[in-house]
Amino acid sequence: MPDFTGRTAIVTGGGRGIGEAICRALAAGGASVHVVDRDAEPAEKVAAEIGGTPVVLDVSDFAAVEEKLSGVGADILVNNAGFDEHCWFTEATPEYWRRLVSVNLEGVFACTHAVLRGMQERRYGRIVNVASEAGRIGSKGNAVYAATKGGVIVFSKSIALENARFAITSNTILPGPIDTPLLDQVRAHPKGDEMIAAMKRLTPLGRLGDPREVADAVAFLCSEEAAYITGETLGVSGGMGIGAG
Ligand SMILES: NC(=O)c1ccc[n+]([C@@H]2O[C@H](COP(=O)([O-])OP(=O)(O)OC[C@H]3O[C@@H](n4cnc5c(N)ncnc54)[C@H](O)[C@@H]3O)[C@@H](O)[C@H]2O)c1
Repeated sequence: MPDFTGRTAIVTGGGRGIGEAICRALAAGGASVHVVDRDAEPAEKVAAEIGGTPVVLDVSDFAAVEEKLSGVGADILVNNAGFDEHCWFTEATPEYWRRLVSVNLEGVFACTHAVLRGMQERRYGRIVNVASEAGRIGSKGNAVYAATKGGVIVFSKSIALENARFAITSNTILPGPIDTPLLDQVRAHPKGDEMIAAMKRLTPLGRLGDPREVADAVAFLCSEEAAYITGETLGVSGGMGIGAG
């Protein structure tokens, strides 16, 4: 486990799923973690359990993000908040795609914008963005979601380029199908079992991932040991990036 003693971290979407696992991993290493979530109850619960600070915030609200996150003095930012809503593109409406873009892409812009100046002044920073394999290989029935995640991948690389001179790193993690509450909507579907089985088949390792497996990779990229890694894109997806073989 990396040592984060003395480090301050912000994790968005930290109330449950992958974000919760990331909060726990960083706190286990000694970081002071700001658990950001739009839902108060899970943010408060996770923060209380890890000795962190809850921040109730919708990342798509630029003014609120600026107000609540710019003064935190973050050494580490994990942009994890995001959501997925299947929709064939012929059925998509501007309201639908604006909602996805406002959280999955603009939320990443807003949180990064809120912390970057402080990181530059301190000449230290670790930014890890949680995108998706969908952003690398595309996703049937999920074109807008995939586009937001593809946007995060190139945004992260650009931030890495702009901020290398400040010793700030920016990397992206691409989860495959991970067993979190996000999959509840799939399970609730009449063909849920079939759909979960199909997701498993997309991964050469043939299974869903555990949120802790994503959190361990994020924690490594947030560590001192990862100081020479920036602009990278790492799949934590059971090999999904290389195809099912
Ligand atoms: N679970 C998967 O299979 C999977 C696969 C690929 C990528 N991802 C990505 O990983 C990230 C986390 O996914 P998860 O499965 O843990 O999701 P989840 O739905 O279980 O948890 C997401 C958390 O983010 C919070 N959140 C959502 N919108 C927010 C907003 N606007 N402002 C603040 N908080 C907000 C939610 O309240 C929730 O606590 C997402 O970006 C998702 O796209 C997940």
